[in-house]
Order: sequence, then C-alpha cells, then structure tokens
Amino acid sequence: MKLKLENKIVTFFLLFLFTTTTISAQKFENLALTPPMGWSSWNKFASKINEKIIREVADAMVSSGMKDAGYEYVNIDDCWQISRDKNGNILADSVNFPSGMKALADYVHSKGLKFGLYSCAGSLTCAGRPGSRGYEYQDARTYASWGVDFLKYDFCNVDAQNAEGAYKIIRDALFAAKRPVVLEICEWGGSQPWTWAAKVGNLWRSTGDIMDCWDCEYNWGGYGVMKIADKNAGLAKYAKPGSWNHPDMLEVGNGGLTDTESRSHFTLWCMMAAPLIAGNDLRSMNQATIEILNNKEIIALDQDSLGKQGFRWLTFDGIEVWAKALKNQELALCFLNRSDIVKTIDFDWKVYTHIWNGNADGSPYRINDKLKIRDLWLKKNIGTTKDNLKKTIQPHDVFTIKITK
Ligand code: GLA
Repeated sequence: MKLKLENKIVTFFLLFLFTTTTISAQKFENLALTPPMGWSSWNKFASKINEKIIREVADAMVSSGMKDAGYEYVNIDDCWQISRDKNGNILADSVNFPSGMKALADYVHSKGLKFGLYSCAGSLTCAGRPGSRGYEYQDARTYASWGVDFLKYDFCNVDAQNAEGAYKIIRDALFAAKRPVVLEICEWGGSQPWTWAAKVGNLWRSTGDIMDCWDCEYNWGGYGVMKIADKNAGLAKYAKPGSWNHPDMLEVGNGGLTDTESRSHFTLWCMMAAPLIAGNDLRSMNQATIEILNNKEIIALDQDSLGKQGFRWLTFDGIEVWAKALKNQELALCFLNRSDIVKTIDFDWKVYTHIWNGNADGSPYRINDKLKIRDLWLKKNIGTTKDNLKKTIQPHDVFTIKITK
C-alpha cells in the first residue's frame, strides 16, 4: 500500500515536472513569420535618447508612409534604464523618460505601432546600464506590464555564461510573463546562434555591429555594409518564418553611404530576408531616403511569405549576382556592382540553364527563354529571358529584377 502511494506520488511529480517544463520552455508561436520591420534608436542616437524623440519617431513612421510600407516596431535600444529600486524593479531614466515606459508604449500603440525595448544577459548592458542577469523573470513581468512587444537582448558583461543557456532563461521568463514578445538574440554570432537560436528567439544577430560606411572595418569589431553582408551571406539555410539571421540594423539615411550605396544596402538586406530595422532619424529624412526605405516592390522580396534567405549565386568581373526564391515560383535576382568602376552587363540567359537551390524547396530553378522580367527599382517590366539582359550599373549600385514564369 505504502509502495503504491509512493509510486503515485512519483508519477504525479514526474507528470507535473514534464508539463511545467514543456509549457514554459518554448518561445511564442506565430511571431515574426516574416522578418520584423521597424526602427531602433541605436545607430543614430546611441545613448542620447529621450521620450520626445521616440514619440516624434513614431509620428514620423506614420507620416512618412513607413507604417503603410510595413514598418511597425519602435524600439528603444540601450540607455533607457538607469537603476533598480529597492525591490529590484528596473527603473527608466526619469530625466529623459519622465512619463515612464508604460506611457510611451501606450503612445506608440495608439499610433497602431508596436513597442520594443533593450536589455542584456549580463549584469550591465554594453553601455554600462543595469542588465537583466538575475532579474530575468522580474524584468519580463515588468515588460509585460508596460506593453513591450519586442525585446533586443544583448550579451555584454556576462562573465562565463553560456549564450544558449542565458537566452533560454529570458525566453522562458518572457513566456512565463504571458505577453507575446519578439525576442532578438544579440550575441553577434560568437556561439553560432543560427545552429540553436531558432528554438529560442525570433532573430539573432549574425555579425558584429554595423557601421555607417560601405566597406570599412574597425578593430573593435564594427563593420561596413559589405563586410556585414559577406558574414551573413552563407547562413541562408538557417532562416525561416519565425527565425531570422539579423545582419544588424540599417544605416540608410545616416549620411555615411551615398544614396546609391544606401539603395544597395537596403536591397541586399531584402534579398537576405533580413529584419528591416531602420536606424536613421525618421523625423528628418530626405526624399531619397524615404524612397529607399519605402520601396514596396523591394520590401516585398524581404517579406515574401516563403521566408527564404537569398544567396550569392554568381561572381564575375566585379559583379555579384544574388538570388532569392519567392512564392508562386518567382525569383529575385540582384546584380551588385561591387567594384569602383561603371560596369555594363550583357547577361546571356542561355549560358545559365538553371540556378542551384533557386527554388523554394532547394531544387534547381530552370531558366528558359520565356521568363518575364521586371526591374524593381525602375518599377517597369523590361522583357523576357529570350534576350540578353543588358544594363549599365554604376559603382556600388544594384540592378534588381524579379523573374516570373
Ligand atoms: C551592442 C549591440 C548594439 C547596441 C549596443 C548598445 O554593441 O550590438 O547593437 O545595442 O550594444 O550598447
């Protein structure tokens, strides 16, 4: 009798353990089924942020047409937080955010947008503000009470913490707090997050920090747009709906790239199904920047529901050709002139009978002479694959087409 009772208790305990661990150890389903689109404060403002800027950026996201083009997250990066109260609750900087985070989230939501915050797996954030280590569940509950929809979670000051383990703690904490939050893993690719992060978060940084330049490199680990693209290029097979490689936020409109380079940066990010997180001052964009960020035909490549990340298909004579499989058996091709001189291509389709992995299921995309071609920056249909594809491409520019059966 005693043994039977003990057995029952053990079974009950195991069942309890099984249900609680399976219920809590998961990320939220059905979030970020296409790459998240929005804005973040870091690239332009770094630590110099306040609630006035955030409100005005939310206004500008609507008035510039970005919201209509699909942008939705307004994310505050590092330096909104200042300390903890005596109960360990995280406190926003009351000088720069006097109304508090709940009021700011409410404002962003009132515009039909979503609200994002930043924290860090370490004791301090990368800019030295309080991190979430040891406070993960408490912070997650606070974010839920404020109405946070997106959390970027950094990896500075972590001592010997294991990245996967640290991110699983915050994943479980967010899940336990019950408000669906898109989780960005930001450990810069060090532990190859693409191999484990799909079960933990919705996007993971695949590289160090982006810098506002075409091809520069800083010895502390900041990279220009081309270097970032190279690092992210080989990771196509890991991207899928709900789980994205993130080659960092956009530098379009920040002044370090020409309009041509900004256009190429934006197009490559869309070809790579990258999250489109604008990093410029949305309140003071010129027309060229607005046209780049709001090009709906290019954004459609990024947001294609198949969720395939494009890859570098060909490289010849300073030109790279990137390919991305799209729904309805369509395909995007982006010819990037990476050289510093003008190039004229005369692309003979007959030489290329197929594109390996060009179809969504990984099979070859067959090229015949009947495919229709549309120029996505000119927004014009430009013929078929019967004729050679001829185009003059300026240095650092792209020629981006969609081909349709
Ligand atoms: C790290 C991240 C950046 C930014 C800063 C903030 O460097 O990679 O994107 O969030 O921290 O301190």
